[in-house]
Amino acid sequence: MKIAIIGQGYVGLPLSLQFARSGISVIGLDVDPAKVEALAGGRSYIKHIDSAAIQEQRDAGRFDASRDFSRLREVEAIIICVPTPLNKNREPDISYILETGKAIGPHLQKGTLVVLESTTYPGTTDEDLRAVLEKASGLKAGESFHLAFSPEREDPGNPDSNVAVVPKVVGGLTNECLRRAVALYSQATQTVPVSSCRVAEATKLLENIFRSVNIALVNELKVVYAAMGIDIWEVINAAKTKPFGFMAFYPGPGLGGHCIPIDPFYLTWKAREYNKNTRFIELAGEINTSMPEYVVQRVAEALNSKRKAINGSRILLLGLAYKPNVEDERESPSYVLMNLLSERGAEVEYHDPHVPVIKATREHSHWAGKQSVAWDRETVSGFDLVLIATNHACISYQELAHWASCIVDTRNAMAGIERKPQQIWNA
Ligand SMILES: NC(=O)c1ccc[n+]([C@@H]2O[C@H](COP(=O)([O-])OP(=O)(O)OC[C@H]3O[C@@H](n4cnc5c(N)ncnc54)[C@H](O)[C@@H]3O)[C@@H](O)[C@H]2O)c1
Repeated sequence: MKIAIIGQGYVGLPLSLQFARSGISVIGLDVDPAKVEALAGGRSYIKHIDSAAIQEQRDAGRFDASRDFSRLREVEAIIICVPTPLNKNREPDISYILETGKAIGPHLQKGTLVVLESTTYPGTTDEDLRAVLEKASGLKAGESFHLAFSPEREDPGNPDSNVAVVPKVVGGLTNECLRRAVALYSQATQTVPVSSCRVAEATKLLENIFRSVNIALVNELKVVYAAMGIDIWEVINAAKTKPFGFMAFYPGPGLGGHCIPIDPFYLTWKAREYNKNTRFIELAGEINTSMPEYVVQRVAEALNSKRKAINGSRILLLGLAYKPNVEDERESPSYVLMNLLSERGAEVEYHDPHVPVIKATREHSHWAGKQSVAWDRETVSGFDLVLIATNHACISYQELAHWASCIVDTRNAMAGIERKPQQIWNA
C-alpha cells in the first residue's frame, strides 16, 4: 500500500515514519522546500526525531519526501496534517486545509481515501473540506472517494507517547468511509471508531479544552494559595496521591504551543453560529493569558526585596521553548514575558540550549537574531534576576542556585535545591 501525508511537521513526520515502519510506503508532501530537501536527504529538522529513523525508512524505500502534488495519483490514501492557527482577530484560520484541498483536487483518483488530521471545529471535514475537494476534483465524497477525520494525539518530547501506542479516534462521512479509514490506521496503531467526522472533531476539541480549563484552574489556585502562603506544588503533589477522581495539572507562566492556546477558540467561534456561549473556554483563556502579568508582578516583588526595580535591571529568562526538552517555541509565553519585562525597562536576555537563536517570525520580528547567552558562572551571576519560564532537564538548577542572586521560578524547578534566604520566589 502507498499513501501520502501532506504536511511534514510535528504531526505529519512522526506519523509518516510510523506508517513506514508498519510496511506502508509513504510520500511525505510539504510546501516548504527546506523541509522537503532535509527529509529527502534523510535529515531530521525536529530535535526529538532521529535522522537515523528517517534514513532507515528512506533506504528501505518506504519513505520519500516531495513537493510534487501530482504524485498523489500514485496513492490509495491521503492524510492531511497542515497547520490550523488563529488569525489576527483570534478566529479560526482553516485556509491551510482549504488550500491543501484545492491542491489535492486535480490529482484525486476514484476510490482514494482522504483523511483530515488537523485540529479544527466540527463540520470542517464534511462541509468545508468536502466542498473544496468535490469542486476541485469533480468527484463526489462518500461515492467516488472516501472522506474521514482522525485527530492527532502527538505529545512532542514525551518518550512515553508515540504514534504506535496512542489509540486514534476515527470518524467517517459514510460507513464505508469509516471502514476504509479504520482499515488504514489499524495497520499502524489502535483505532477508536466513532459515528461521524463531527464526533471525531469534537472529541479532539474536548481533549484540548479539558487541558486548558484544568490548567486555568491550577493557575488561579496558584495565585490564591500564594497569597495565603501555601505552595500550590506541594498541594498538587499531595492531592495526586488520591487514587481516583483527581488528575494532576500544573501551573505555569501561561499557555504555549500549537494546540492548547488555540484550539479551544475554534469551538468558541463555531458555537456562535448556533447562538451558544462557551463561558468555561473564555474564562480559562482569560486566566491563562493573564499569567505572564502575574509572573511579572512577582519579578517586581523579588527585585523590590533587593531594593531594585524592573526598570534598569538585567534579567535572564531561562527556557524559551513552551515546554521542557523540546525546541518548539510557537506561542511560547516566554516571548510575552520578554516583551512585558523589556517594556518596563529591563534588559532581557535568554538562555535555552534547544533554541540557540530566535528565528524571524511575524509575531517576534523584534527579537529575531537574538542568541541564547552562555551558561557559566560569570554570565549568569551578572544578572539581577533569573526567571525560570521552562524547566528543561539539561539545565543544572544546582549550578543556578550557586550562581544567581535572585530567582523567580514558574515551574517548581528549584524544588529540593539548596538555596540562600530570599533567593527563590515561586510565581
Ligand atoms: N504539534 C502538536 O503537538 C500537535 C498535536 C496534536 C494536533 N496537532 C495539530 O496538527 C496540525 C499540524 O500541526 P503541526 O504541529 O504538525 O504543524 P507544523 O507547522 O509543525 O507542520 C505543518 C506542516 O504543514 C506544511 N504545510 C503548510 N501548508 C501546506 C500545504 N498547503 N501543503 C502542504 N504542506 C503544507 C508546513 O510547511 C509544515 O511543515 C494542526 O492542526 C495542529 O493543531 C498538533
